Amino acid sequence: MNQNKKPLYEKLAAHEKKSVYSFHVPGHKYGNLIPKDASRYFQQMLKLDATELSGLDDLHSPEGVIMEAEELLAQLHHVKRSYFLVNGSTVGNLAMIMAAVKENEKILVQRNCHKSVLNGIRLAGAVPILLGPELNEEWGIASGVSVQTVSQAIELYPDAKAIILTYPNYYGMVYDLQGIARLCHEKGIPVLVDEAHGAHFIAGDCFPKSSVELGGDLVVQSAHKTLPAMTMGAYLHYNTNFIRKEAVESYLQMLQSSSPSYPLMASLDIARGYLATFTREDGEYLLKKITEFKDRLQQLKGIKVLSYKNGEGDPLKITLQSASALSGFEIQKLLEDEGIYTEMADPNNVLLVFPLLKKGMDFPLTEVTAAFKKALHALASFKTAKVNFALAHQGISKLEINIKNQGNLESRLVPLDTASGKVCAEFIIPYPPGIPLLFPGEVISQESIEQIKLLRETGARFQGGKNLLQGKISIY
Ligand SMILES: Cc1ncc(COP(=O)(O)O)c(C=O)c1O
Repeated sequence: MNQNKKPLYEKLAAHEKKSVYSFHVPGHKYGNLIPKDASRYFQQMLKLDATELSGLDDLHSPEGVIMEAEELLAQLHHVKRSYFLVNGSTVGNLAMIMAAVKENEKILVQRNCHKSVLNGIRLAGAVPILLGPELNEEWGIASGVSVQTVSQAIELYPDAKAIILTYPNYYGMVYDLQGIARLCHEKGIPVLVDEAHGAHFIAGDCFPKSSVELGGDLVVQSAHKTLPAMTMGAYLHYNTNFIRKEAVESYLQMLQSSSPSYPLMASLDIARGYLATFTREDGEYLLKKITEFKDRLQQLKGIKVLSYKNGEGDPLKITLQSASALSGFEIQKLLEDEGIYTEMADPNNVLLVFPLLKKGMDFPLTEVTAAFKKALHALASFKTAKVNFALAHQGISKLEINIKNQGNLESRLVPLDTASGKVCAEFIIPYPPGIPLLFPGEVISQESIEQIKLLRETGARFQGGKNLLQGKISIY
């Protein structure tokens, strides 16, 4: 197949060039009804916002240009089948989990996962076995799970029907996914991978290996995060003998809109073409630009550019750690004041996502470095400014009350000090490291209480646990 082709985009553009009379949805009629004040932005793009017309195929039953575009994607990744997703990795995670596990079946799940993973398990009515990730003290965050943890989990729960992992983590860290996949496959356990942040990994040797290459059975990628695709655009790759393709397809049909956006799908076609034509020279050019940029940032006072252990990680992700009295959030704000908008911050770090540049593409690094200098000029460097959070390794655990049985239970607030031994009724997710310290349905240990207190004292923020500031926690 010719990877330079963009069948869906090309067909859509050809349709736009014909003068057609629209007596079909959408109601904006190729942008003609858009009010003048908004048309400056919308009019051009809405010319491509068609629907399932003759020749434009149907995402839910593809046999024409959408099928061809998906086949090109599958060929690029060397998988049995690939799908375009129009509701992000979120819908991919829901669909693949529901296809892999049924009610009351066990699924091994990396504790520091995206909420869509837990929602998928909840919808499936499955039983999550939580796997504690490894911790990176220098960065102050959680990375991936170890082969040893997975091996122990399989020994404890040999009836687990699947495992779901996050690879890479938000900060671009990778781990021995191949070792885990080998182990799981020996036991007949399919490996589902949320590769939301790694859609570009097959672009070349300058990136870590992709989950599909490492043995992932079902892999979900947010094309919109690192490829030139529109927000919500994602891919699901199917490369397994463990799970029926029809099951995945039926959940995708159930969970996705019956009116998927054509501009969005065309952008997925364009993003695949961009990735497929990314050359070795592009990779060398990109790495040179990233190194140049990091070298310049490294010279600034008040921040430290972090490096991956053994250099293994995603070069597109650049983590800057505060080396001043300011937190990551405060540094992020200073940068915004100079027009630099970053991906995210935590108490120690600020995370940047570098563009996947091809050879000759410009990015105003000189101007950006000047803006960095201006933003950070007043900072003084400290030797150890990193906030020391309580990073305790969490092992393998199971919920006391499974998610499915929590729906009808009543919850109430109790003082944190009296909560030991009770069953938690909310998520407690401290940042950093962003790993749920407690899940709803999990027993609260005295150790978790001490950890929450320590985290509060050191200024961590929490997702969930909105009453912790008043010293209270919700229990069943
Ligand atoms: C690890 C991970 N998985 C899944 C998602 C959801 O992806 P999307 O926004 O494409 O639905 C995110 C979003 O940030 C994520 O970080």
